[in-house]
Amino acid sequence: MKAFQLLVAMTSLTPTFAFPHLTERQATSGSQTGWQAPGPNDARGPCPGMNTLANHNYLPHDGRGITLQILTDGMKEGYNINSGDARLLFSQAVRTNPRYPLARSFDLDTLGTEGVLEHDISLSRTDRYFGDPLPFNATVWAETSTHFPNDFITVPQLAEARMARLETSKATNPEHELSALGSGFSWGECASFFEIMADGTEGKVKKEYIDYWLENERLPVELGWQKRSTEMQGSEREEFSQQLKDLGEGGESSASGGSLSALLGDGRLAKRGERSGKHPVVYWH
Ligand code: HEM
Repeated sequence: MKAFQLLVAMTSLTPTFAFPHLTERQATSGSQTGWQAPGPNDARGPCPGMNTLANHNYLPHDGRGITLQILTDGMKEGYNINSGDARLLFSQAVRTNPRYPLARSFDLDTLGTEGVLEHDISLSRTDRYFGDPLPFNATVWAETSTHFPNDFITVPQLAEARMARLETSKATNPEHELSALGSGFSWGECASFFEIMADGTEGKVKKEYIDYWLENERLPVELGWQKRSTEMQGSEREEFSQQLKDLGEGGESSASGGSLSALLGDGRLAKRGERSGKHPVVYWH
């Protein structure tokens, strides 16, 4: 009887007190419609995918202290991405934490740390040479968007747009640099358009969903977007990344293919001025 009374008493306490493990879980209890703009002290970074999850509270709204468990839950609940991808991405993200290798979490702004994951030629961010490469940049996105004349963005159009960003960067940025690892990451970022903003079954995605997503870092629910009903698998990501890369680089990529673990190597991008030699492609960052 005493045990029963104790249980009743515990469940009437706040979940945080009675079940401390729920404290962390609460930080990731997001919703598709519950968007909240970041506050002045909230961390946000160069990744629209992660920023959006934080704005919807699938990740801690302050954008800090993201552990593997929080990331796995956030990616699954926000986008229906399988846990293997969360593990893979976490292994890279944690390297951006200045306390790495002791770190067990990362913050959204550390994703922009120079020479780790962040790279030139982003679709919607400026190269570091020209300014802050973390926030959405309307001028850069307008340049990218000239390659999307219709209501839908297709795989060949996105491959072309990404190659054009590369050309612009080479032509205008005296410090232009893109290691093979950074290049592979950028193809993976492109792939997410078709896997997350569409359901991964067709190589096209509504342009208005992408515009809305990137500009607002918000799920385009009010435009009719829905989280995909099938879980996104790594194989799908690899296929889209390879297709994009083949189209963009004219089929030169087959020599640089390989398993993700093999191609990540030590997972570190070259710092500026430090050439990295030949790496295989990274499918999705
Ligand atoms: C832990 C997981 C993730 C990490 C560590 C990560 C990291 C990054 C980083 C560092 C960038 C900046 C690259 C640059 O310099 O342009 C980036 C860009 C990007 N990420 Fe993520 N990302 C993650 C998950 C996601 C997810 C789940 C999505 C899709 C829903 C996504 C979509 C994108 C896109 C579209 C860009 C390109 C932005 C642009 O080129 O303007 N990311 N990500």
